[in-house]
Amino acid sequence: MRKSLVAGNWKLNGSLESIDALASGVVSQASDVDVDVVLCPVFVHLDRVSEILKNSNVALGAQNCSAQFEGAYTGEVSPGMLQEIGCRFVILGHSERRSLFSEADQDVSIKVKSALEAGLVPIVCVGETLEEREQGNAEAVVEAQLLAALGDLSDQLSLVVVAYEPVWAIGTGLTATPEQAQTMHAFIRGVLAKVSQSDSEKVRILYGGSVKPENASDLFSQADIDGGLIGGASLKVDDFMAICKAAG
Ligand code: PGA
Repeated sequence: MRKSLVAGNWKLNGSLESIDALASGVVSQASDVDVDVVLCPVFVHLDRVSEILKNSNVALGAQNCSAQFEGAYTGEVSPGMLQEIGCRFVILGHSERRSLFSEADQDVSIKVKSALEAGLVPIVCVGETLEEREQGNAEAVVEAQLLAALGDLSDQLSLVVVAYEPVWAIGTGLTATPEQAQTMHAFIRGVLAKVSQSDSEKVRILYGGSVKPENASDLFSQADIDGGLIGGASLKVDDFMAICKAAG
């Protein structure tokens, strides 16, 4: 039985004041939910949010990390540093990193290994663009992304979380229907089974892309949807907690 996980991807948002209120608000309601809850602020807010999450059942995650552990890599943050500051999770290969910062499958693959080496749980994002879906290539694109990132991980596959985020649904208000999402999630589990049959059933596959309190229950009731990666709605305590409750 997979325990549901809901992660808030705060993206490039928040001030010291607003993150205090947001993180404390989530902590105060999180004991009511039976799901793993993760908050992912920007790097410079991690330490502060880590303090707020201490002794709570809410975990800390980063939105990205370097593939490198140390050295002459100006502007980077290593997975070991994230682990030391209290992170347990790191989002990798988000479509915004792929499209806006030219992250390639190969980069994601190296980062996944570095994150695992540091003891972090990578939340590996995959998903097709609208054009790719309309051309009938959605499954091929997702399979290629998955195999590039996770294909050689057979003995560590169970340590990873996958997030399916159709690019056309991110921040657009368009959501995949529960049926569309379930079809892709079942396909993803099948691809993971090619990497490790036994571990594929253990991997949590999150759905992301305009999840809101109104559509969360229908999405999370699907057999292969094990929670969500939440952008916009994670910036409001009540919306985010309603989504967490829908996953429980
Ligand atoms: P959204 O973002 O919920 O605002 O669509 C999801 C994500 O990018 O992880």
